[in-house]
Amino acid sequence: MTTTATAATADTVDVAASARRRSVELEQQIQQNPGRFRVMTGDRPTGPLHLGHYFGTLHNRVRLQDLGMDVFVIIADYQVLTDRDVADRLIEHMEGMLLDYLAIGIDPARSTVFNHSAVPALNQLMLPFLSLVSVAELNRNPTVKDEIAHSRQSAVSGLMFTYPVHQAADILFCKGNLVPVGQDQLPHLEVTRTVARRFNERYGAVFPEPDALLSAAPLLLGTDGTKMSKSRGNSIALGATADETARLIKGAKTDAERYITYDPENRPGVSSLVLLAALCMDRDPHAVAEEIGGGGATALKRTVTEAVNSRMAPIRARRAEYARDMGYVRSVLRAGNERANEIAAATLDEVRGVMGGGI
Ligand code: TRP
Repeated sequence: MTTTATAATADTVDVAASARRRSVELEQQIQQNPGRFRVMTGDRPTGPLHLGHYFGTLHNRVRLQDLGMDVFVIIADYQVLTDRDVADRLIEHMEGMLLDYLAIGIDPARSTVFNHSAVPALNQLMLPFLSLVSVAELNRNPTVKDEIAHSRQSAVSGLMFTYPVHQAADILFCKGNLVPVGQDQLPHLEVTRTVARRFNERYGAVFPEPDALLSAAPLLLGTDGTKMSKSRGNSIALGATADETARLIKGAKTDAERYITYDPENRPGVSSLVLLAALCMDRDPHAVAEEIGGGGATALKRTVTEAVNSRMAPIRARRAEYARDMGYVRSVLRAGNERANEIAAATLDEVRGVMGGGI
């Protein structure tokens, strides 16, 4: 048991290291020829997007959009049902997410925002795709295993095991070849690549084998020193007010050592706060820590609060402005769904054609 767990961890580290190397290569290709790429990524509408999302992937999407790439963003509503029985407050979460996207600079004229349940042809692709992976392969996915361990359901549903194949359909329906995601999504990208490769071998070349693009920003922890997560109450939402932000940071976990240093290995709580300030100020975390030095946790928290609130101020102002025009916000999703449906229908036709069902 222990040996298997250790082997799995070593594997995961290995996969992450090679994905990081690959991401560096991809960055060079992006600079040389952004037109080669179609960007596809997304989020589950389970709650407000937070600073971990922002520095991990949201910020990167806008950068890629601004480089002139065609960007697709899925609000993965069916994926909400992987670890809970019902998707509660779905509309509220979807609208919140649309506001977040618009506020950070996703431009509907250049990027397509859509959701699973509005694009039937995308979902239909999941059936032939499921035939291309074995149950044993689905069983091995470390992210799915982790989610099962933290699931709110007593029984594991079929959707939980198969959603990485659904995610392959999300990515492949529009022939996305560049997927900016966090490290936890790497196993799903492997499934997508496997599905694309096997489909192409069996039926003819239809799909690209997409690459993950990991962001250069290191992982941001929540205010309690564990993984920043919507459900753990340890995250600062993009749409939080300046006061809410101050309160969350005030309650953040630090340690007994007075002198502030950036040492993620030994001082995860303090270092994550330093990192958050540094990311907000576009500065090096070591330099930020040094400057605070003997000021201790109080000075650290003051710096972080100011840094977050001033970085987020224009985003929050835009968010509030869009929130006054929800008719427009909803029309962005409607238009995105229309475009996604056209593309999904064309891909499904192509798939039917090569599979012999296109009469
Ligand atoms: N699984 C992703 C998450 O939990 C969300 C997602 C759904 C996604 N479909 C996708 C990400 C396609 C990238 C590409 O965050």
